[in-house]
Amino acid sequence: MIFPKEIEIIEVGPRDGLQNEPKQISTEQKKQLISQLYAAGIERMETVSFVNPKLVPQMADSAEIAQFCNDLGLQYIALTPNVKAIDRAIEAKVPQIAVFVGASSTFNQKNINKTTSESLIECKPIFEKAKKEDIFIRAYVSMAFTCPYEGHVSFSDVVDVCKHFIELGADEIDIGDTNGKANPKMVYERFSRLKDLFPETTFVGHFHDTQKMALENVLAAMQAGVTKFDSSIGGLGGCPFSPGATGNVSTEELVRMLTEMGCQTNLDVDQLLKISPYAKSLSSRI
Ligand code: HMG
Ligand code: MG
Repeated sequence: MIFPKEIEIIEVGPRDGLQNEPKQISTEQKKQLISQLYAAGIERMETVSFVNPKLVPQMADSAEIAQFCNDLGLQYIALTPNVKAIDRAIEAKVPQIAVFVGASSTFNQKNINKTTSESLIECKPIFEKAKKEDIFIRAYVSMAFTCPYEGHVSFSDVVDVCKHFIELGADEIDIGDTNGKANPKMVYERFSRLKDLFPETTFVGHFHDTQKMALENVLAAMQAGVTKFDSSIGGLGGCPFSPGATGNVSTEELVRMLTEMGCQTNLDVDQLLKISPYAKSLSSRI
């Protein structure tokens, strides 16, 4: 088996963890969570999302949170699914953005009101604007394994989205098991094939834990050579348009597993375990 010396963990709790929470979380509570994670040594985090606040009310205070992250000096990521979003992100002076396009067109339509091909067309001006401002671009392929609406997602649909992202100049491609129904075999096979097809591309694994296989899926992706993973403190997470999906792989469980296997993350599990109860207290689902 392959146990990389170092693994980069990108914390997505303040964004993926909170976006689907029905109970309103105050801006101060969000700042407190981000501060605690930052103090624990998390260097990169998804904290904001410039989407329609009528659809995702929990992310309505993203401009204020972005200002807070700028003041902290954090390398944070803002979700920007359309041109309006990148304009808001540029105004907020974010250092990194994430676009997200579903390999399943039905999901994509429900999530961002466009088919997969329409979304890829919209990505062109988003990338151009981000590049002009020297903003790092993360590009998600969501529902990259299975979909709650379409069932099995074909590998060729995943490859098509990746190809577009690479042509547009994505800095990293994040492969999302958005509904948490992938298994280690699928994960190993898809990441191995993607890395063969696109050897110059940096891939990230983003696993939801619906079937309690997220840690196993991380391990499988590592065997295919992946060394970057998203996780969420307390295992919080979920997408309003991915029915039935639960949270992301938990940061503290991931760090514990990796540390015990001798893979460096630059994070300390005991410190994370101290933050986890606060993160969970913000959620009415955990
Ligand atoms: P749309 O409806 O196509 O946009 O939204 P539109 O141009 O037709 O405008 C309709 C209304 O939305 C207008 O307002 C616009 O101003 C407003 P109204 O006139 O009705 O008052 N609007 C916006 N407002 C603020 N910011 C914007 C914006 N754009 C339009 N950027 C849009 C398209 C994508 C914005 C919408 O469908 C949306 O917000 N969807 C929510 C998507 C979302 O947040 N999903 C969850 C995150 S994705 C995820 O969780 C998966 C991930 O974790 C990876 C994984 O797990 O695999 C990333
Ligand atoms: Mg997600």
